[in-house]
Amino acid sequence: SGDPLVLGIETSCDETGVALVRGDELLVDATASSMDEHARYGGIIPEVASRAHLEAMIPTIQQAVGEADVDLSQVDAIAVTAGPGLVGPLTIGAAAAKALSIGLGKPLYGVNHVIGHACVDQLVDGPFPGRVMALVVSGGHSSLLLVDDVATAVTELGSTLDDAAGEAFDKVGRLLGLPYPGGPHIDRLARAGDPNAIRFPRGLTAAKDQDKHAYDFSFSGLKTAVARWVEAEQDAGRAIPVADVAASFAEAVVDVLTAKTIAACRRHDVDTLVVGGGFSANSQLREKAAQRCAEAGVDLRIPPIRYCTDNGAMIAALGSAVVRAGVAPSTLDIGVDSSMS
Ligand code: KG4
Ligand code: ZN
Repeated sequence: SGDPLVLGIETSCDETGVALVRGDELLVDATASSMDEHARYGGIIPEVASRAHLEAMIPTIQQAVGEADVDLSQVDAIAVTAGPGLVGPLTIGAAAAKALSIGLGKPLYGVNHVIGHACVDQLVDGPFPGRVMALVVSGGHSSLLLVDDVATAVTELGSTLDDAAGEAFDKVGRLLGLPYPGGPHIDRLARAGDPNAIRFPRGLTAAKDQDKHAYDFSFSGLKTAVARWVEAEQDAGRAIPVADVAASFAEAVVDVLTAKTIAACRRHDVDTLVVGGGFSANSQLREKAAQRCAEAGVDLRIPPIRYCTDNGAMIAALGSAVVRAGVAPSTLDIGVDSSMS
């Protein structure tokens, strides 16, 4: 087709992602991860991640162009994650993208990682049918986006005031003695438990908070409530019903996430919901989102999990949308923004 060939680079966290997209077609998506190294520390160490990006960057670019059987000279534009994310890792990706931009004489586009999580769905499920709602949930973010045009008009309706959904799962996993990251372990345990066994608090849903934080999330109070409940049981000499705790905790998180998302769809008259981010692997979220979307007449789009976790395809997809929208390229002095909104 006549659409530009866009190379996308993602390095906001622990995945080095490089992808090639033409229009809404994904040609290749190459990823190198340093997660194995971080698992040893029980969390991501930014300097360890930065060094891993530096080592993986050129091999991953070479892998991507090799698998797509294109020559770098055919690339029409470079897109790179400019934020949000970890400063060191972002810097490695931005430096590589600037070098490619100069070397190839092609324009550079710094793009937003969270919007990329929504945009990648178009590579799988086709162009957005118009205005869509996007719920982006991972270990680093929980954001609700109203997307009028993914390249030029995205409004953040709400985000987390403290822990992201995946982060809350990881922290509760730690207090239940599960390996890092605890999210998938809680998911598995929760499937065997009773979600109504323990009534944990739903953050920011009380009447006094409702207007100001209608679409914001807060999970740190919930995490503390789980910790207190577990402590009290231990103090009383009782065994912890781990599956019931996991199921009741997961229920509290996905109840708030889906209730606020559906309320936002109704309020803004949106009938398509896109879910992205690594936490969208969560089976409790998938089940409740499917159920509530069906009740509300909202079409639910969740791409396969490899496109929900951090990857280059999401950045190439957003770069492709931005180039086609005629947005001006970034200048070569752009920085990175760890807390980009
Ligand atoms: O997007 P991602 O791979 O990395 C970022 O945080 O950006 O998301 C990983 C997060 C971790 O917190 C992980 O525990 C959580 O998503 N996660 C899950 C599940 N799979 C991944 N949490 C709950 N249930 C899951 N099945
Ligand atoms: Zn992410």
